[in-house]
Amino acid sequence: MTTTSSAQHTRRDFLYVATGAVAAVGAAAAVWPLISQMNPDASTIAAGAPIEVDLTPIAEGQDIKVFWRGKPIFISHRTKKQIEDARAVPVSSLPDPQTDQARVKEGHDQWLVVIGICTHLGCIPIAHEGAYDGFFCPCHGSVYDTSGRIRQGPAPSNLPIPPYAFVSDSKIKIG
Ligand code: FES
Repeated sequence: MTTTSSAQHTRRDFLYVATGAVAAVGAAAAVWPLISQMNPDASTIAAGAPIEVDLTPIAEGQDIKVFWRGKPIFISHRTKKQIEDARAVPVSSLPDPQTDQARVKEGHDQWLVVIGICTHLGCIPIAHEGAYDGFFCPCHGSVYDTSGRIRQGPAPSNLPIPPYAFVSDSKIKIG
């Protein structure tokens, strides 16, 4: 599998969160160890344990990345426009037809949670890049929309949705 350096593609509005962190976006270093202890340790997570992610610190229009089972998980707090754009597309025109509603949890439409691995050859896409304000894969130019659906380029399918559930209005459990 080919991957690119995530650091190389970091954008200001795409925050990276350590595996297992809860409510950690913008947290001071001093509180990080306490926060990290709230999830299973890294080896347990690597073995497949679920992780919980507090969505509270993610501002509208912002994305974070966490890791689950060694995979990057993108969590997007979508704006009203991003949701409207995703829903305005005729589903039949999509290479991998799927409604936006089918890719989010009912009542939590603003949250998109996807596995951030390009379905072409496995690079890590960049958020808020490309023609659809979704994700752009720099390796061979695949473009995903604000629902994580493939819109252009060689990728054959949409960004996958990991198993997850809302445990409260502001917290999800992945896995
Ligand atoms: S790996 Fe993403 S376009 Fe090829």
